[in-house]
Amino acid sequence: MMSPMRHRVAVVTGASAGIGEAVARELARLGASVVLNARREEQLARVVGEINEAKDGEAIACPGDAADAGVVTEMLDRARDHFGSEADLVVVNAGRGLAGSVLDSDTDQWEEMVRTNLLGAARLMREAAGRMVVGIGDGDWRERAHDIVVIGSNVGRHISPFSSMYGSTKFAVHSIAEALRREIGPRGVRVTLVEPGIVHSEFQRVAGYDPEKFGEFMEKVGPVLEPADVARAVAFVVSQPAAVHVNDLVIRPTRQDYP
Ligand SMILES: NC(=O)c1ccc[n+]([C@@H]2O[C@H](COP(=O)([O-])OP(=O)(O)OC[C@H]3O[C@@H](n4cnc5c(N)ncnc54)[C@H](OP(=O)(O)O)[C@@H]3O)[C@@H](O)[C@H]2O)c1
Repeated sequence: MMSPMRHRVAVVTGASAGIGEAVARELARLGASVVLNARREEQLARVVGEINEAKDGEAIACPGDAADAGVVTEMLDRARDHFGSEADLVVVNAGRGLAGSVLDSDTDQWEEMVRTNLLGAARLMREAAGRMVVGIGDGDWRERAHDIVVIGSNVGRHISPFSSMYGSTKFAVHSIAEALRREIGPRGVRVTLVEPGIVHSEFQRVAGYDPEKFGEFMEKVGPVLEPADVARAVAFVVSQPAAVHVNDLVIRPTRQDYP
């Protein structure tokens, strides 16, 4: 079987479920070596085991909180130490939603969400970018693509009163991703924002969506996206020649009319 990504070393955060799991599986299916991060060790070990059984690319786990500075360093170190070179593909995906508006969202969850979605994502972008830029050095960046892919959201582009605080974290992440693109694109590193609409995953439960209301919504705009749909979009972006950058990709269920 052709393995178009066999030379790539990837790190994916939030890879025990949903979009991150699907992205890790897809990159490995295409031949990449992948470090998977998430907090739930058993869940992560199951995904890693299944990837390795398939014998396409190789996977290892780096369990821990992706918002923790030590864990961010560790996942990148493990990629380098285990696979023999610094990661050239980092997917900044770990995150969570939060149902509700400014008035009625649960304030007790604000801090954790900001820490994960914004500060953790920014820390990983910073550390991955620093290593990639050093790795490319004065060499020819066209010889090997370097990618940081950030999973943003439709609600980081369109203000939604129904998930206001969550949306604000994604607006912030979008701005950091675009700023970083301008900073390190000229040095050969692509920073890509992927902005999904509604994806069916654990996201809805974790965010605390009312199942009945969400069910009605699904009937109206469904079928919604599956994590594998987003994974194929990520694979498309990072498979482009190094001098081609699809830097902002919006992907929605066909019938999604809002936002
Ligand atoms: N689903 C949607 O409709 C949708 C739409 C647009 C954007 N997104 C974005 O897509 C990303 C993935 O969401 P999803 O839909 O795949 O949700 P999901 O099914 O709930 O998966 C989230 C993943 O992130 C991990 N995670 C959460 N907090 C973490 C932390 N602090 N450290 C490490 N891992 C952490 C979770 O694993 P553990 O619990 O094991 O740590 C899980 O693997 C998020 O950034 C989300 O904002 C989702």
